[in-house]
Amino acid sequence: MERLIVKGGERLRGEIDVHGAKNSSLPILAATLLCGGETVLHNCPKLSDVDAAIKILLYLGCDVKRYEDTVIINSDSINSSEIPESLMHEMRSSIVFLGAIISRMNKAKLSFPGGCELGPRPIDLHISSLKKLGVTINEEYGTLDCEAKSGLVGTKINLSFPSVGATENIMLASVMAKGETIILNAAQEPEIIDLANYLISRGAKIKDAGKSTVIIEGVSELKSTEYRVMPDRIVATTYISAVSITGGDVLIKDVNPDDLESVIPVFEQAGSKLKVYKDSIFVSGPSIIRPVKNIRTMPYPGFPTDAQAPIMAMLTLSSGTSVFVENIFESRYKHAGELVRMGADIKVEGKVAIVQGVEKLYGASVEATDLRGGAALCIAALAANGETKINNIGHIDRGYESIEQALGRLGAKIVRE
Ligand code: EPZ
Repeated sequence: MERLIVKGGERLRGEIDVHGAKNSSLPILAATLLCGGETVLHNCPKLSDVDAAIKILLYLGCDVKRYEDTVIINSDSINSSEIPESLMHEMRSSIVFLGAIISRMNKAKLSFPGGCELGPRPIDLHISSLKKLGVTINEEYGTLDCEAKSGLVGTKINLSFPSVGATENIMLASVMAKGETIILNAAQEPEIIDLANYLISRGAKIKDAGKSTVIIEGVSELKSTEYRVMPDRIVATTYISAVSITGGDVLIKDVNPDDLESVIPVFEQAGSKLKVYKDSIFVSGPSIIRPVKNIRTMPYPGFPTDAQAPIMAMLTLSSGTSVFVENIFESRYKHAGELVRMGADIKVEGKVAIVQGVEKLYGASVEATDLRGGAALCIAALAANGETKINNIGHIDRGYESIEQALGRLGAKIVRE
């Protein structure tokens, strides 16, 4: 199994580009199925989750070609409405294909997405929403057998929780449904806006994506398009944490600062200096990291749950006590135990994690427990005394393009073996 070897102590310097957003490219790739035609998708990151999504498109009959960070998808000939178990388990978020396949084929069959490191990943909101749009769903033996005999019909859907994936599935199932769909309490993440902008570039009629009430008017066809995926705001947050913990000076390019409005104040409270430009941020890490009293993860525009682990890593070396409350996922502190192995002082009580800053972290052999938890270990290792071995880095590769090259370009001593 591959692992990363990191020698701590280097201050990061230089400049780095942020790659395209994983959590936007995945639903957009699913959306290419909605209608025949060609999508030229730029800034599509080279990640294992994206590779898994492309495998699903190929399995369903699409023609997909990749040239560096451009992926060209032709979805004229779809010859299946089923996603095999093996492909479903490769990527948990493949549930987002459900709405697109049903919209194109009026049926779909796929296995329940597995739980993941963040705890059970229920899909009740996806199921209840699709049923309201006219889908009959048989759930048995871990398989979802879906059918929309008389096609999909627009309706009003009130989400009890602003689920990102459920909002995306409703959008994908309703852009070509008969009539109007209104989503109440929709997720407002920037990735929702990016998906809507992609669909609108194909001729979809979507109003107020990114707000809590989204209105979709069904259309009968979508045209081909060329589109550029937004920058990944969580990768940008990860890089800012890495620069901050090492006291470095780095220009982070190809970011949308508006997407970082809920994390920038946290970095400033920790003592980092951030000069924000139109599509880049110059980050100067602090000589002493200050604690951040209260960090509560919330649906957007609140503090993003995906930023919790990377920022916790930075705060393990703060001069005081920081408190996190994880309100989105029920077990998203697995990285805390691994950080403690490196000398961090973290106490987890249910949703709450109390991080008492320590003087030093020490290199150790640790395990990446999930995507952002793995990134947190990289961040801690950059500032630890000695050498850290990070195992199970397949988790990290799901969401970060060659993290060792990215950080290595900034002067980090990090190799993959
Ligand atoms: C998306 O997951 C992201 N993944 C996650 O990023 C991100 O953490 C999450 O949104 C929140 O921002 C992708 O976009 C591929 P949710 P998703 O549905 O859609 C519960 C990463 O690190 N829920 O908003 O699964 C659910 O259990 C990943 O890049 C239900 O109860 O998130 C969770 O507690 C991790 N029933 C909460 O809602 C449902 O039907 C948030 O889930 C659906 C969700």
